[in-house]
Amino acid sequence: MNKKKKLVVLTGAGMSVESGLSTFRGAGGLWGKERVEDVATIQAWYRDKQKVLDFYNLRRKELLGVKPNEGHLILAELEKDFDVEIITQNVDNLHEQAGSTHVTHLHGELMKVRSTGPGEEVFDLTTDNYETHVGDLCPKAYQLRPYIVWFGEAVPEMEKAINITEQSDIFVVIGTSLNVYPAAGLLNYVPSGAVVYLIDPNDVNVNGRNITIIKKGAGEGLKELKEILNNKE
Ligand code: OAD
Repeated sequence: MNKKKKLVVLTGAGMSVESGLSTFRGAGGLWGKERVEDVATIQAWYRDKQKVLDFYNLRRKELLGVKPNEGHLILAELEKDFDVEIITQNVDNLHEQAGSTHVTHLHGELMKVRSTGPGEEVFDLTTDNYETHVGDLCPKAYQLRPYIVWFGEAVPEMEKAINITEQSDIFVVIGTSLNVYPAAGLLNYVPSGAVVYLIDPNDVNVNGRNITIIKKGAGEGLKELKEILNNKE
């Protein structure tokens, strides 16, 4: 039996748009409504913890009201024929809900919190108890904070993501404006022999290598990619 080809997928907020979640940039984007400096930095946390906690409480409420879309489901299905690794900038768990089994979250996970004490222990939230407030403590009595990588913080999963990217036979970018580093820099680690696709309904600034652009939303774009891969691979 032939070894399955490694299909590595880098996803961003656009992946979840067809589920009903917002992007960050562009028309209707979250960063048009809230300032990054007020809710997604360690300085914001020190200034007003409850404001930050409420921002993520609301994100969780939104997440609990949506489901994986066709694009998420196609990516999960592709595991039948490919060794699929998803590297996501998204903090939602829609890839997992769709059935993807190898998901690396670069920017953390909405349905988890972590201790602000030494060791940074991580805890799962549940769907019926997903809010956190000032005064919610870990068993060692440290305040809990969102398990989110804020702007200016290190990205602990980056090394793993680079290793995965370096093994790709096929690399697919979906629904990210590639504005945020180090995630956006992953493209530089794709082997020169790998085939690269980009799915996005809008123009994304990528140059310097040969990329097949599928200018569509995630669902339609992934249907097209599946056809291409079926015929080629
Ligand atoms: P952006 O909001 O910057 O970009 C979203 C991308 O999705 C854009 O290129 C859109 O054109 C595209 N898009 C819109 N609708 C789409 C659809 N139906 N199908 C596919 N793509 C669509 O989001 P990210 O690049 O993910 O970090 O942002 C990166 C990081 O910046 C996020 O992880 C977040 C944010 O600040 C943190 O919060 C730490």
